Amino acid sequence: MSLSTPHGGKLVNQKQIGADTSHINKSIVLDDISVSDLELIANGAFSPLTGFLNQKDYNSVVENTRLADGTIWSIPITLPVSEQEAEALQAGEEANLEYNGIVYGFIRIEELYSPDKEKEAQNVYQTTEDKHPGVKKLYDRADTYAAGEITLVKEIPHDQFDSYYLDPVETRESFKERGWDTVVGFQTRNPVHRAHEYIQKTALETVDGLFLNPLVGATKADDIPADVRMESYEVILKNYYPSNRTFLAVFPAAMRYAGPREAIFHAMVRKNYGCTHFIVGRDHAGVGDYYGTYDAQKIFHQFSDKELGIKPLFFEHSFYCKKCENMATAKTCPCDKKEHVVLSGTKVRAMLTNGERPPKEFSRPEVIEVLIKGMKQ
Ligand code: ADX
Repeated sequence: MSLSTPHGGKLVNQKQIGADTSHINKSIVLDDISVSDLELIANGAFSPLTGFLNQKDYNSVVENTRLADGTIWSIPITLPVSEQEAEALQAGEEANLEYNGIVYGFIRIEELYSPDKEKEAQNVYQTTEDKHPGVKKLYDRADTYAAGEITLVKEIPHDQFDSYYLDPVETRESFKERGWDTVVGFQTRNPVHRAHEYIQKTALETVDGLFLNPLVGATKADDIPADVRMESYEVILKNYYPSNRTFLAVFPAAMRYAGPREAIFHAMVRKNYGCTHFIVGRDHAGVGDYYGTYDAQKIFHQFSDKELGIKPLFFEHSFYCKKCENMATAKTCPCDKKEHVVLSGTKVRAMLTNGERPPKEFSRPEVIEVLIKGMKQ
C-alpha cells in the first residue's frame, strides 16, 4: 500500500504568495469561517475545490452530496458576501479577500447567487432549527454567495502553535519520512479521553501511523478552547503514545456540527492529508440529539470504497469497564451497564469547572490537570 491519492486525483495548490493585488479595487471581508476555508482551499486540504462553490456545484452538494461532476463532496464551501459588497461586484471581476484589514488573497468572481438556506439546512444538517449551532451560523451569515476560483497571496498568520500547521504536501512528506504506508486519521474537537485513546490505539494496532488532527477553527462557545486542548494532546502523546507512530498537526477548519455529512467531509480532507484510514466513532461531529449515534457511520455505505478512497474504521461507543478492568465496547464487554464508566461532556465540563477530577478510567490524570488549569484562565 501507499499513501492515499488526493480526492479528485491531485492536490490543489492555489497559492501565489507575494503576488501583487494592488490593482484590484474591489474587496470582500472574510469572517472566521471563510478565512479558514480560503486557507484550506489554497493549500489543497479541500482538493479538488479550487474556489468557493458556484451555484451548480452548490445545488449538487446540497441535493446529492456530490459536486456537479459526481465527485463526493458533502459540505457546501461557500462565500457569503454582504448586500453592499454584492452590489459592487460583477461576474468576471476580481475582488481582494480581506481579513482584519489585511488582504490574504483574491477571488475571480464567477457568479453571485442566492442560496436556499432552509434547504441547505435541512439537507446538510437534517434540521432547520436555529438552535443547531451549525444552522444558526448558516442563517447568521449573509444571503448572497460569491463563487469563483481563489488565490492565496499571503499566508494566514497563526499566533498559536504555528509549528503544528502543516499543509497536505507537508503531512504527506512527514508520513513518508517515517516510512508509513498506512495512516489512520483522527478528527477531534475534544481533549483525548480514554475512549478516544482506546479507539486510536485499536486502529493503530493494524496501521503504521496515527495522524492526530484536532480541529482548531471556530467551534461553539462551550467547546474546550483549542489552546487548552493542544496542551492536553502534547501531554498525552508524551506520556502514553509511541512517538515514532504518532503525528500531531492541526486542522484549521471551522466545526459545522453536521454529523454524517461532516464525517464524510472530515474523511475526504484527511485523505488529502495522506491518510489511508479514518476513524468514525459514535455520534461523529454531532451535537445535541440531532443525529442517531451511528448515523455518521451509516452514511459511508452510500458510497463505494473506490470513490471514497479512504477506509473508514467504525467504532462503537467505548468506555472503561470496572469488572473487565479495561476499555471496551458492547462488542467486547459482556457486563452490566453499571460497571461502565460513562460521563457526558456536560457532566465533565461541570466537574472541571468545580475543580473536581473525573476518574482516571475516564481521562488520564495528566490531561485532567491541563484541563483544570485551562478552565481557571
Ligand atoms: S467530533 O465532533 O470531532 O467528532 P469528538 O472529539 O468527541 O467529536 O470525537 C472524535 C472522534 O471520536 C469521533 O470519531 C467520535 O465519533 C469518536 N468518539 C468520541 N467519543 C467516543 C466514545 N466514547 N466511543 C467511541 N467513539 C467516540
